[in-house]
Amino acid sequence: VPRTGEVVFDKVTFTYPGAEQPVLADISFTARRGTTTAIIGSTGAGKTTLISLIPRLHDATSGTVSVGGVDVREAQLESLWARIGLVPQRPYLFAGTVGSNLRYGREEATDEELWDALAIAQGEDFVRAMPETLDSPIAQGGTTVSGGQRQRLSIARALVRQPDVLIFDDSFSALDTATDARLRAALDREVTDATVIVVAQRVSSIVDADQILVMEDGRIVDRGTHSELLQTSPTYQEIVST
Ligand code: GTP
Ligand code: MG
Repeated sequence: VPRTGEVVFDKVTFTYPGAEQPVLADISFTARRGTTTAIIGSTGAGKTTLISLIPRLHDATSGTVSVGGVDVREAQLESLWARIGLVPQRPYLFAGTVGSNLRYGREEATDEELWDALAIAQGEDFVRAMPETLDSPIAQGGTTVSGGQRQRLSIARALVRQPDVLIFDDSFSALDTATDARLRAALDREVTDATVIVVAQRVSSIVDADQILVMEDGRIVDRGTHSELLQTSPTYQEIVST
């Protein structure tokens, strides 16, 4: 398996089992290593479904999804998952400690690596302020941390795994705009050779993306950079103005 984490969707269609209508239709795009691809669109457009095809949480009904040049259906699941860091839309934490939650997926990570990931995820300060820092207990479901803290721990967990493909599903929504901006600047600086895919609601979270895919009803209706889409995409203009 080549190291490169390039993600390619080629004419992908997806229908949920038992459903009548496809949720994704004719999705084609390439997300290159070292670049950020953003996906924006209204609720129910199919963003979460789209990214779920990358680690094979579902399989495309037709078309192909490949990672690093390999059709995901032909990749060994364990090695595919080892290369993908997915921060889910609803982040989850296990009963345990901050450290054990961050190590989930890479048990051998050192404390230093956990702190490095926390620094990028803007979680360093609040974890250092906890009485037992990395050994602080987390209750089941993460009820002892706020929603924004849970998001940052979930982001740090994905970073600890040093994946080739990093996927954020609406992962910055619970962060204030200043924290969001610092986090993205740190990602830009520190995570330079991963393929980054960002699902976002807030346009401010994706203005710097190398390409933005605008989704509507399971289709990519427009694509380009922020400034290109401002000129060419009525759908994007509407998203920006709301
Ligand atoms: P937001 O997260 O709300 O912004 O939406 P999204 O763009 O992530 O949409 P998502 O991919 O979650 O859903 C797209 C469509 O698929 C919607 O019409 C959902 O109702 C439908 N859908 C999502 N999950 C399932 C599922 O497990 N089964 C079925 N049958 N439909 C689903
Ligand atoms: Mg979603």
